[in-house]
Amino acid sequence: MVMWEGRFKKEIDKRTNDFNSSISFDKRMYKEDITGSIAHATMLGECGIISSDESKKIIEGLKEICNDLETGKLEFDMEAEDIHMFIESELTKRIGDAGKRLHTARSRNDQVALDLRLYLRHEINDIVDLLKSLIEELILKAQDNYETIMPGYTHLQRAQPITLAHYFMAYVEMFKRDILRLKDALQRMNENPLGSCALAGTTYATDRYLTSKLLDFDGPCLNSLDGVSDRDYAIEIASGLSILMMHMSRISEEFIMWSSHEFKFIELDDSFSTGSSIMPQKKNPDITELIRGKSGRVYGDLMALLTMMKSLPLAYDKDMQEDKEAIFDAVDNVKMCLITFIPMLSTTTFLKDNMLNAAKRGFINATDAADYLVKKGLPFRTAYKIVGSIVSYAIDNDKTLDTMEISEYQQFSELFDKDIYKAIDLNKAVKDRIVVGGPAPETVKKHVEEVKKFLEKID
Ligand code: ARG
Repeated sequence: MVMWEGRFKKEIDKRTNDFNSSISFDKRMYKEDITGSIAHATMLGECGIISSDESKKIIEGLKEICNDLETGKLEFDMEAEDIHMFIESELTKRIGDAGKRLHTARSRNDQVALDLRLYLRHEINDIVDLLKSLIEELILKAQDNYETIMPGYTHLQRAQPITLAHYFMAYVEMFKRDILRLKDALQRMNENPLGSCALAGTTYATDRYLTSKLLDFDGPCLNSLDGVSDRDYAIEIASGLSILMMHMSRISEEFIMWSSHEFKFIELDDSFSTGSSIMPQKKNPDITELIRGKSGRVYGDLMALLTMMKSLPLAYDKDMQEDKEAIFDAVDNVKMCLITFIPMLSTTTFLKDNMLNAAKRGFINATDAADYLVKKGLPFRTAYKIVGSIVSYAIDNDKTLDTMEISEYQQFSELFDKDIYKAIDLNKAVKDRIVVGGPAPETVKKHVEEVKKFLEKID
């Protein structure tokens, strides 16, 4: 018989039970459920709502259940409606009447809201740690490549010279923001819903500050209707994770292109790529493709959460049970992506000569040629036009800006002199871009130092 046998005359229909049950996916919150129940039982005992002897018995019983689940001595009952019901009935089986007192001044509505917050708190902290490792790896790569020239692109057309270090540090900025977004969501989530009960609080003299302290919350949620029915935190986290996946997908897309024969900027390590079952020559960038694919899946989780919550009347509605699979899926997939991407990045070989050769072709120093004329007194637009004609001439004559004779330059403007070759030198073009945020090695080195300080401040 189920918990509500008093009100019901018939057993639940098997199909309804299966449909209603969430234990298959909420069983992963068993630890959080037990931690929350221990805090609740401690508070009930301290406040004299149950005896201290009953409180102790409950706590011991819960600890044993936790231990037995961990050692495999106890298995989840898949017939139970959810993890909360399972643990409570197992406790009552073990300690009798004291177990029946645990649910005083509590409901599954505040219980599940609590469990999910506790669960997401540690999962998101794990993801933040992974992001820190990813940033550290990107910094290592940047430090090896302050002088590695490569073409920077706009519209996927070679645009201006940058360095590989500058490129890596662009992603560092994105992942820094991801950390801050997730931390921000954690901060706002850090209010305790326990004690909101079903929706309207309780007449028992509970101490919500005590449970908040025991569970490391900043304090109790201040409205019980909101406490049980708020899922903003899951949506904020899914949104932060979606943006993070968008960043992962962008770098993945670049790695996919760069590992092609058309680019050949990188060589993936064998242990992080796959072959083809039919084409012996193939080495496929499956990891990055999967990350690119999974970004869509995580966006889907965010949409599922937003759509589920839309128009739900206060307070708890069963629709909310759907929150868990979506947010768990997002968290699991983001973790897997980071766990695989970090070592893949660290073992990737960067083919610097190919990057330099690509930088040499494609007229990416054309802006520097125009700037040369500006420094000699021409307005930028005039200089721009002259260099445009030079590029067109060079294309027609199969030359680059570096291989054109000075006499050819001078046909376009008398201001050109032999020092033009120095002005359009790719190394110089990069070194001179010392503006804050620019690719000059000394600027990027300073950026790396800033990021190291940032990482030290993230706990
Ligand atoms: N399994 C439910 C969920 O995940 C727990 C809360 C159920 N509360 C209720 N009154 N039916 O949302």
